[in-house]
Amino acid sequence: MLDFTSNLALAILACILGSSFQFGYNTGVVNAPAKVIKSFYNETCQNRTGASMPDSTLTVLWAVTVSIFAVGGMLGGVTAGYWANRFGRRGALLRNNLLTTVGALVMFSSKYAKSYEMLILGRFIIGLSAGIGTGVAPLYLLEIAPVSLRGMCGTFNQLAVCFGVLTSQVLGLDAVLGSPNLWQFDVGFSVIPVVFQLCTLSFCPESPRYLLITKDLEDEADKALQWLRKTVDVSDEIEEMISEKEAQSRIKKFTVGDLLNSSSLRTPLTISIVMQLSQQFSGINAVIYYSTSIFESAGLSGILAKDATVITGGVNVLMTFVSALIMDRAGRRSLHLIGLGGMFISGYILVIGLIFQNNISWLKYICIIAVIVYVIFFAAGPGSIPWFFVAELFAQGPRSAAVSIAVLVNWFANFIVGLVFPILQNTIGQYSFIPFVAMLAMFWLYTLLKVPETKGMTIEEITASFKNTSATYQPISADKSDG
Ligand SMILES: *[C@@H]1O[C@H](CO)[C@@H](O)[C@H](O)[C@H]1NC(C)=O
Ligand SMILES: *[C@@H]1O[C@H](CO)[C@@H](O)[C@H](O)[C@H]1NC(C)=O
Repeated sequence: MLDFTSNLALAILACILGSSFQFGYNTGVVNAPAKVIKSFYNETCQNRTGASMPDSTLTVLWAVTVSIFAVGGMLGGVTAGYWANRFGRRGALLRNNLLTTVGALVMFSSKYAKSYEMLILGRFIIGLSAGIGTGVAPLYLLEIAPVSLRGMCGTFNQLAVCFGVLTSQVLGLDAVLGSPNLWQFDVGFSVIPVVFQLCTLSFCPESPRYLLITKDLEDEADKALQWLRKTVDVSDEIEEMISEKEAQSRIKKFTVGDLLNSSSLRTPLTISIVMQLSQQFSGINAVIYYSTSIFESAGLSGILAKDATVITGGVNVLMTFVSALIMDRAGRRSLHLIGLGGMFISGYILVIGLIFQNNISWLKYICIIAVIVYVIFFAAGPGSIPWFFVAELFAQGPRSAAVSIAVLVNWFANFIVGLVFPILQNTIGQYSFIPFVAMLAMFWLYTLLKVPETKGMTIEEITASFKNTSATYQPISADKSDG
């Protein structure tokens, strides 16, 4: 804990509240006030055309509003690496606030301009900024933290995302900002973390690793590191960066094309992609985007449905914390299996509850419990493990190309879920969760049969195992340190 200086804490907080929090907030913000905003769409249509908006049109327009965030995220995510190298980590994060502000203001103004098109445009812009922010923030965090605190920074990052989701659910309550008169402040709230980040990150230095390794500015890297560590003697870390830089120049850089063409990397790439799909097609974002309406279809009143949504958000924060504590002790593969298995069972119970809730009134409470348990199991494993896996299945050379593909797949699947789920809800009603339950079963089987355990192995051992044989996997005794 000696390395944890107040300056480092400030830099971490500035980074995660300004970026990871924003991503979580804007993921969750469309959940609770959905009804209120949808009636704004309907009213706008009535005022323009004289006729109310057909139910099917409203469903599709709302699905687009929710999911276009992920289209922006995809574009932002694939370009994040470029911005991070061009402007620096801190530089890219600070500039990204401009995009966030524009997105938030466009959404905020949509009500006054009586235009739902603006809300959709704003969701796209804020998605772009979320894609960039979630791409750059982990780089900054990893690069400013001393080795001993890297795991903790990853946890803070994940917690900030869940905390953002929870904040959006609380602000979306009727009594806060989720009412017909105030929803524009709810969707425009993002300017507040923007102001916070501008006021704090501006005083923090650029990532020393970026300064030294990418920009070759040793003196500046030295200064940045002295500020972060609050000590003048940082020569050890500088030395280490210099040797990392030399090592990097010897490594062959993989482009995404190289990676796709490499047959020896096909197995780890397939596993990484399926793991990302398992995270999104587990249906978690159907819950994060639409839980209020799921609870309403389980027979809860609007107000209770929002309260239940806040509870799921709180449980998510708590469980993310717990899972960070157990992550390194339990194996990744076991946790992923437990997570997907628990989600399958609770998802199955939710489906049964939704189907029969008309006949048995207490089933709605079973539905709430099922959703909470589902979120617990998500946070236990599938929430973070797919990201560990991409980083661990690839050596330094192809890793960043692999991460780019994973980011793209993740956002794309997120988009599909956001777009399709409300349409399913509108057409097959209480059966709409069945596709997720079926996919959870498939992903569970895939993990059981194809995914190796990486706990206790170094990255070299993991990558070597894919080169030898692709069919069988030799587990190596788990007493070595994580690579
Ligand atoms: C629709 O028109 C009425 C009456 O002019 C106005 O009060 C209301 O704000 C309008 N609503 C929207 C969403 O445009
Ligand atoms: C739109 O508003 C009208 C009148 O307020 C209402 O009858 C209709 O059901 C609404 N349409 C939808 C799709 O909610």
